[in-house]
Amino acid sequence: MMIAIDGPAAAGKGTIAQRLAAHYRLPYLDTGLLYRLVGRMMADRGLDPDDGVAAGRIAATIDPADLADPHLRGHEAGELASRVAVHPAVRAALLAFQRDFAKQPGGAVLDGRDIGTAVCPNADVKIYVTASAEVRARRRTDELLAKGRAVDYATILTEIHGRDARDAGRAVAPLAKPSDAHILDTTDMDAEAAFRAAVAIVEAVRSTA
Ligand code: CDP
Repeated sequence: MMIAIDGPAAAGKGTIAQRLAAHYRLPYLDTGLLYRLVGRMMADRGLDPDDGVAAGRIAATIDPADLADPHLRGHEAGELASRVAVHPAVRAALLAFQRDFAKQPGGAVLDGRDIGTAVCPNADVKIYVTASAEVRARRRTDELLAKGRAVDYATILTEIHGRDARDAGRAVAPLAKPSDAHILDTTDMDAEAAFRAAVAIVEAVRSTA
């Protein structure tokens, strides 16, 4: 069973994807980490993340072992990721790795921005996880405050709007709801309710397969 989860920043897709993978005993790939790694490598080498040629070259050299680096989960890496993610050469370089992962016998869970539209258009289940920008900014602010970071809600909300615009506005594989995806709006749900709703979607699809 191949499950594709897409959606905007801080909608809760990572938590849902991880829990679905554990529940159905499937391997899980957080594809955002690939873009984060490319962004981080660019910054570490003093390269400009808006330089598509350099970013494409770096994306072709990534080592999957580096995806475990906890620094990739940070806020800066997320911003760098969304800048390198606009480059067609970066997306092309990362596509094969994602498709290979998805092809595992028994299936897999992948989450990102273009899984149901570009990486795995034939996924068995597609879920588009979303929530209002205000609720997503609140969640991201709380998450960063809990990590001891001095952040304020208004700044994070502005960044969320900026990230949404960049992710949805790029020319290649923009963030978009796949036409055959089930929408899961988590605005009024906690993590547990969102997970249960996701399982209900998977079970409904399975019962008709
Ligand atoms: O959860 P959050 O949005 O903060 O981070 P993420 O899912 O790790 O994604 C970081 C950035 O990587 C996004 O803003 C996208 O620009 C990019 N990305 C992408 O373009 N395609 C994917 N399949 C996954 C992430």
